[in-house]
Amino acid sequence: MVMLIIKLCIFAMAPLCTVAANAQTQGIGFGYGGRNGPKQWGHLNPHYTECSVGKLQSPIDIQRGQTFYNSTLEPLHRDYYTTNATLVNHVCNVAMFFAEGAGDVVINDKNYTLLQMHWHTPSEHHLHGVQYAAELHMVHQAKDGSFAVVASLFKIGSEEPFLSQMKDKLMKLKDERLKGNQTAQVEVGKINTRHIERKTRKYFRYYGSLTTPPCSENVSWTILGKVRSMSKEQVELLRSPLDISYKKNARPCQPLNGRRVEMFHERVTKKETGNKKKDPN
Ligand SMILES: *[C@@H]1O[C@H](CO)[C@@H](O)[C@H](O)[C@H]1NC(C)=O
Ligand SMILES: *[C@@H]1O[C@H](CO)[C@@H](O)[C@H](O)[C@H]1NC(C)=O
Ligand SMILES: *[C@@H]1O[C@H](CO)[C@@H](O)[C@H](O)[C@H]1NC(C)=O
Ligand SMILES: *[C@@H]1O[C@H](CO)[C@@H](O)[C@H](O)[C@H]1NC(C)=O
Ligand SMILES: *[C@@H]1O[C@H](CO)[C@@H](O)[C@H](O)[C@H]1NC(C)=O
Ligand SMILES: [Zn+2]
Repeated sequence: MVMLIIKLCIFAMAPLCTVAANAQTQGIGFGYGGRNGPKQWGHLNPHYTECSVGKLQSPIDIQRGQTFYNSTLEPLHRDYYTTNATLVNHVCNVAMFFAEGAGDVVINDKNYTLLQMHWHTPSEHHLHGVQYAAELHMVHQAKDGSFAVVASLFKIGSEEPFLSQMKDKLMKLKDERLKGNQTAQVEVGKINTRHIERKTRKYFRYYGSLTTPPCSENVSWTILGKVRSMSKEQVELLRSPLDISYKKNARPCQPLNGRRVEMFHERVTKKETGNKKKDPN
């Protein structure tokens, strides 16, 4: 009974890909190319129409000319705690689900609780026209149901320490997939989410959508300004448990449609207090 409740919770807490998992078994899954690729998402299912008609969609290319330094934005306020976690083959990506009490991010005085994180390869957001090797999405949800996602971009380089710790567990997901299990889960035990949290001196903020169907809007996006590194092997490892159609799981950039991308930059806040309007980019 307890296990059943935990499982139900995991699925109730996983809005981003369960649609894919359920839809797959019903033969109406979305994909990243061909007949069920991103351009078709809005037509695959009546619940997905926002993917094609929505005007505030994600991801976007964060371009210099369209970002505005906002001196009233505050440093990213995250409080993460040690909690049990489960690594999950989420069909359209590899995800880590956190037990209750993983912590919160506070955005505009609103408290969003950390539910899960997952990886996209290559990156979904582009920064100044550049698409990176990978993107981590930390998904938070407020009591009213709205989402806040904190995203980190990764280029190919040195190993990412958190993924290095997860290597064996990721290998296990891959082995399960080779045995034919598409939805394997590996208990990770206690995760100190403080290791994932990084001090950030620069971020970009805008309002967009989920990047997978149903593409629901009103998602608060925070894209960290510092591009981090992971090794090529780590990118491959994140892809290894996924079906061929999800190994490249980045939705193409969507039109900005007049939205403003706000920028927080700590250094500027300190140095240029007398000249707040200046765009440091
Ligand atoms: C700057 O950020 C604050 C806090 O999010 C927001 O209320 C305000 O509208 C932003 N300013 C501009 C000019 O967009
Ligand atoms: C974490 O999971 C283990 C084993 O699944 C369990 O024994 C332990 O009580 C859990 N800890 C917390 C804080 O939930
Ligand atoms: C956010 O919510 C959590 C759990 O409800 C609470 O422990 C925490 O203090 C809240 N944080 C803020 C800044 O309100
Ligand atoms: C797949 O893995 C999950 C958990 O890792 C397990 O509960 C399930 O029974 C497995 N399914 C198959 C078909 O082996
Ligand atoms: C959109 O998000 C804002 C801020 O989280 C919230 O106040 C508002 O009710 C949301 N609007 C809709 C239509 O969900
Ligand atoms: Zn995502």
